[in-house]
Amino acid sequence: MKFAGLALALSSATSLASAAVIWDGRFNDYTTATDFDKWSWSNQVGTYQTYIYGNLKGQKASSWYTLGSQYKNPATTTATKGVKVKITGDSVWNGGTMLRSELIPQTTANMSGHLYYHVSLSIPTTGYPDPNYEHQIVFWEGHYADIKYGQLSGQNGVADTLRVITGGKTIWSVTPVKGTWYNFILETGSPGGLWVSTGSNQLTKVYTGSLGGNGGQDWHVGALRLPNGNTNVITEENIYYSGVYVENSGPTTTP
Ligand SMILES: *[C@@H]1O[C@H](CO)[C@@H](O)[C@H](O)[C@H]1NC(C)=O
Repeated sequence: MKFAGLALALSSATSLASAAVIWDGRFNDYTTATDFDKWSWSNQVGTYQTYIYGNLKGQKASSWYTLGSQYKNPATTTATKGVKVKITGDSVWNGGTMLRSELIPQTTANMSGHLYYHVSLSIPTTGYPDPNYEHQIVFWEGHYADIKYGQLSGQNGVADTLRVITGGKTIWSVTPVKGTWYNFILETGSPGGLWVSTGSNQLTKVYTGSLGGNGGQDWHVGALRLPNGNTNVITEENIYYSGVYVENSGPTTTP
């Protein structure tokens, strides 16, 4: 009886801990980027929807993503790999004017409410995005809270900036150190806020207040570069992501 009681206590502790993660996009269930190609509207498998990418020349999702341990925050022990997201001048999705490679959660979980959206990202030392253009890199379709890199459309002289914007206001920004991992928690619902750290440091809350929205499944992680005039001739650009998941309590402050 004692042993049974202990086993029960242990298993409920385990399920409580794991119950906090309501969607897990840490790529542990993917082997290579070709796993992204298995998703389609009629075959919604895996943890990501993969439909926003340059597709005018017969490319597949896997043309734009590379998975590997070298693309994750090395301090993160809960993920074996991260993703390198690429855009080029061929990243035109369905004839639009923006250059896009975006991953979106595939889930039936309710992702609205007071939740913690985790993402770590690195602007790499080579092949990084052109800072002179606005890149929307983490955002809900409703754009109530965005992580952006580069000079915002309509701005001048504020180029090499990584920032979090909500309600049209920058609530956090840095000149990113290339190759450094920036860890974020976007806390949706109420009270809401933003948690940040770099590298292996514990995340701390740097902003308290509503992010202007309530979360939701239509959450994009990747690269959306605004048009640069009449030409889409650009040098290849990359951003690395890891530690992408959503939890409904906590938050876990270890990257
Ligand atoms: C999702 O969760 C939120 C917060 O608990 C709740 O307000 C909302 O009604 C839920 N939506 C659905 C479809 O269950």
